[in-house]
Order: sequence, then C-alpha cells, then structure tokens
Amino acid sequence: MKIAIGCDHIVTNIKDEMVQYLEAGGHEVIDCGTYDFERTHYPIYGRRVAEQVVTNEVERGIVICGTGVGITTSANKVQGVRAPLVRDVTTAKMAREQLDANVLGIGGRITGLGLMQEIVDVFLSTPYVETEESKQLIASVDALASTSRGLDGDEIFDEFLEKWEAGCYVD
Ligand code: RB5
Repeated sequence: MKIAIGCDHIVTNIKDEMVQYLEAGGHEVIDCGTYDFERTHYPIYGRRVAEQVVTNEVERGIVICGTGVGITTSANKVQGVRAPLVRDVTTAKMAREQLDANVLGIGGRITGLGLMQEIVDVFLSTPYVETEESKQLIASVDALASTSRGLDGDEIFDEFLEKWEAGCYVD
C-alpha cells in the first residue's frame, strides 16, 4: 500500500522507525517530514499528509506528534480527511470498519512502539464495511468540512514559524 507519513520534531525518531517498519512490510512510504529534531510547527506536517490522502496520491496517511492531539486535529481540518487519534487496536479496527478512516493519528510519546506497530497493521489491513448507516454517517461527517485551507501554500504557517524562531514556544 502507498502511505504518507508525517510528524513533528518531538517524534522524528519514532516516525523514522515507523517508516522502516512499513517499508520492511512491503509498503511504499512518502515521508512528508519533518526530518530532524529542529523545532517546527506540527500543522504543516498534518496538512502535508492530509493533502497526499485527499488528492489520492496515497491510500492512507499516518501522523505522529508527542501526544498525537495537535497533528491529528490539524489533519482533520483538511476536507475529506477522517483521522482518529488511536491508542488501542480495537479503535483502529472500528475506525476503519465504520468510518473508513483514511489517516491514523498516533501519540509518539504516549504509545509504545510495539503497540504502535500493531495499531498500524490493523489500520492498514482492516477493510471498510459499507452499510447504509455508515455511508450516511460518513457523508454527514464529511459535510462538516465545507471549506478547507488545507491545500494552501506553506506560507500560512510563516507567522508561527517566526515565533518558534523567536523562542515564543517551549516544548
Ligand atoms: C510539542 O510541540 C507537542 O505540543 C506536540 O508534539 C504535540 O504533542 C501536540 O499535540
């Protein structure tokens, strides 16, 4: 499967481990960054992964930050993305079966690597089970995102990146 993955600077090593794991499992991975531990801004990477998914460049996305909250919320703001923040295998399975979730959110400082790998395996292998009810629910959920800035250029993040540089934010 073709998969896009992205993270913030807090969990780059965990993202790199996940890339290796996915590639070892025969998947093709688009690594949307970040690529080092220099401070960055997680909405950038949530958006990049989301963009790959909604333009059908990839089949699924994976986003990872410290808690998973920020980057998953960011990805969900892009129209067409359904991204659960997952900490257990059952949620990964249900999110695929019932919601046809297309991006997986993970807290790299919360969930251990072994469990993370199991969650990813289940998220990638579980098919969506289409029913009249699930179709309607997904249509309702998707309709909530009427417009998205998700496909705009990266310059929308400049203000925040400048603040990082100026030391306004502390991890
Ligand atoms: C660090 O920037 C931290 O806020 C981030 O990794 C994530 O946990 C946010 O939800």
